[in-house]
Amino acid sequence: MKSVGIIGVGQIGGTLAHMVLQHRIPVRLGLYDVNEDALQGKVWDLEEASIIGKFEGNLEIVSSLEKFESFDVLVITAGRFRTPGMSRADLLKENSEILQSIAKKIENFKGVVVIVTNPVDLMARFFSDLHPLPSSRILGMAGVLDEGRMAYHIKAFSGLKGQSVRPCVIGPHSDRMVPLQAIKVGPGNLQDIVKFSQEQKNSIDQNTRFGGGRIIEKLKSGSAFYGPASACFRMIQNLLELQQEVLTCSIQMGTNEMIHGIESKIFFGWPVILGKEGVKKKVNPEINTQELGELNSALLALQKEYEEFFLERGGK
Ligand code: 2OP
Repeated sequence: MKSVGIIGVGQIGGTLAHMVLQHRIPVRLGLYDVNEDALQGKVWDLEEASIIGKFEGNLEIVSSLEKFESFDVLVITAGRFRTPGMSRADLLKENSEILQSIAKKIENFKGVVVIVTNPVDLMARFFSDLHPLPSSRILGMAGVLDEGRMAYHIKAFSGLKGQSVRPCVIGPHSDRMVPLQAIKVGPGNLQDIVKFSQEQKNSIDQNTRFGGGRIIEKLKSGSAFYGPASACFRMIQNLLELQQEVLTCSIQMGTNEMIHGIESKIFFGWPVILGKEGVKKKVNPEINTQELGELNSALLALQKEYEEFFLERGGK
């Protein structure tokens, strides 16, 4: 039986565990959290829920990170979430220390890692610098979430069901993400089906970029978790090869004929096909010249942010 581990069972991790159980995904599900009492409480709650809801599965507490060595997929949500007024730099410093200690304890892990901890593109890059896993087995969860948000705003203006549109949001999971104008509806193009005003296009673009931030503003003491957990769930289904879709994940692109002058080790959102070994295939979306320019400048800024962080750490 395949095995999925969740490191960090807060709002996202707990919701993800509930989804895996409720959808009867046939896996051994292992949960770890530094807060052992909170973890025990969540596991009791999940176990009882699975009996009440008739979706009993294979749920267990993993008492130490080293025990995840034999797992197939690990989802890392551990770390601080952004609160109003918190900078990316604060988040980066604190969460990189958490990720560093996790990477060390799972150094023999050979499966696929899905990183949720923010700033996710930088955390995925940092993890890939720390851990011997090939970069194709290291993914950041971002694009699936951002595209779901974009579909929500398209639905609001078009009346089309959100599930029927396939937006594509590439680049960093930040305000500089690049929501592409080429949006598919099955084999067709959205712009041939619905005529949006420029104001509506701007609103869809802005609300997508700032989708995470506006939830944080409303929640005050938390960030989104249903959307992130659902995005992780979709990635897990594809990694276990229960589904096969083109999903946008934060990946290490390496070289790509569309992107020039960018450091090849950075991670950013790009459409891929996933499988049990992680990234099976990269899929080049339709990008216009303006979007390519936006992407390149966003990636240069991302690389500069990583270099500054790395230098600040004394290059280690
Ligand atoms: C989000 O976009 C916080 O990355 C998380 O909701």
